[in-house]
Amino acid sequence: MGIHWCSVIVSVLGFLVLESVLFVDGGLTSSFIRKVEKTIDMPLDSDVFREPPGYNAPQQVHITQGDHVGKAVIVSWVTMEEPGSTTVVYWSENNKKKFIAKGIVTTYIFYNYISGFIHHCNISDLEYDTKYYYEVGIGHTTRTFWFTTPPKVGPDVPYTFGLIGDLGQSFDSNATLTHYEMNPTQGKTVLFVGDISYADNYPDHDNTRWDSWGRFAERNTAYQPWIWTAGNHEIDFAPEIGETEPFKPYTHRYQVPFEASQSTSPFWYSIKRASAYIIVLSSYSAYGKYTPQYEWLEHELPKVNRSETPWLIVMTHSPLYNSYIYHYMEGESMRVLFEPWFVKYKVDVVFSGHVHAYERSERISNIEYDIVNGNYGHAIFDIKNKTHAYHSWHRNQDGYAVVADSMWFYNRYWYHHEQHASSK
Ligand SMILES: *[C@@H]1O[C@H](CO)[C@@H](O)[C@H](O)[C@H]1NC(C)=O
Ligand SMILES: *[C@@H]1O[C@H](CO)[C@@H](O)[C@H](O)[C@H]1NC(C)=O
Ligand SMILES: *[C@@H]1O[C@H](CO)[C@@H](O)[C@H](O)[C@H]1NC(C)=O
Ligand SMILES: *[C@@H]1O[C@H](CO)[C@@H](O)[C@H](O)[C@H]1NC(C)=O
Ligand SMILES: [Fe+2]
Repeated sequence: MGIHWCSVIVSVLGFLVLESVLFVDGGLTSSFIRKVEKTIDMPLDSDVFREPPGYNAPQQVHITQGDHVGKAVIVSWVTMEEPGSTTVVYWSENNKKKFIAKGIVTTYIFYNYISGFIHHCNISDLEYDTKYYYEVGIGHTTRTFWFTTPPKVGPDVPYTFGLIGDLGQSFDSNATLTHYEMNPTQGKTVLFVGDISYADNYPDHDNTRWDSWGRFAERNTAYQPWIWTAGNHEIDFAPEIGETEPFKPYTHRYQVPFEASQSTSPFWYSIKRASAYIIVLSSYSAYGKYTPQYEWLEHELPKVNRSETPWLIVMTHSPLYNSYIYHYMEGESMRVLFEPWFVKYKVDVVFSGHVHAYERSERISNIEYDIVNGNYGHAIFDIKNKTHAYHSWHRNQDGYAVVADSMWFYNRYWYHHEQHASSK
């Protein structure tokens, strides 16, 4: 197929759509066409939204990477009755010595909604590849969770990412999360491609749906980092009720380590994790020439050292390629600006959300594409080594171990190097 180049763009959807631009010779495809059905949100009295028992008990616990390399973790939680303590007590499985870190607490008002006390605490100087326990709610009801830090950044470090997007809080959302948890290939970190709670679908953007989402997802977000990308449902721009600060609920609740990558905004940033270099972009912040995001990316791409992190992954909410009527061409202006750089710097894959269907494209640039449809689900990006990664798509209607679509990725930078070397 006359396709040369590029990065794969996967758009993850509705729970992940991956629109990926895949590779070389796409013989893909499935005749599957998704039913157009409305998803139904779980009612507020559902089991998944239950508040933890105890006075001022921490809820909505979630973690994300806290620095550029994976030795720090931002722990976040909400208390409802009073601010309580911002302290996190943590200890490694190997060495039971307890450490203490102090965080911050914030609140916000959104029209007639007043948030609980939102805590963020950066715990740092962690050992790589180590299981840690952490305790929050010091002084009142405490709760303990755990996570495992990634291996030291380096070229030969296998690592498994889960991909989820457009999650929301419907019965399908719960099925997506359960399938991700039950997948025999266990993801260690979620690359979340945007659209979290969909609270903005409710009258006055009912922010109690941000709280319920936090409680629903806690069973996963408290135990593995979710790497956040801003989606359109995070904007919460509602001038009709006087809410004119975009991303207000999102930025109060979800923190990201943007300063560690010299970014000036939480909406675009990068991290290294194991053998991957991950660049998160914002489809809903200015990215035209001379804008801060454009300038940041221009300086960021040349910094990636493929000898250290062979896998170069980009996350955006709006896909650069999309065959659906919904959101058709919304990613086009970003594609026009950034695709030449993605080609030049040999980006391996672009993961996106927004379109509630699974698609992946061939490895292409510009206009050629070829698509597979799927529906609600999640994906796994399983990095095996410097040259090979295995991507699989898991639909909610299938069994936990069923792979609906899959492909090997051959590293854009290293694969040809190695082929070359071995033919010499
Ligand atoms: C959500 O999924 C979990 C795990 O499968 C299940 O225990 C729970 O009952 C489900 N809740 C709803 C409201 O579907
Ligand atoms: C967390 O702490 C580490 C180590 O001091 C620092 O490099 C990182 O930037 C901090 N992250 C945030 C979000 O403050
Ligand atoms: C790139 O990374 C490799 C492996 O960590 C290191 O040896 C090399 O010095 C780095 N190159 C630059 C330009 O920093
Ligand atoms: C990398 O992983 C692939 C797939 O598992 C394997 O075929 C290949 O031999 C591995 N390469 C090296 C250098 O180990
Ligand atoms: Fe979206």
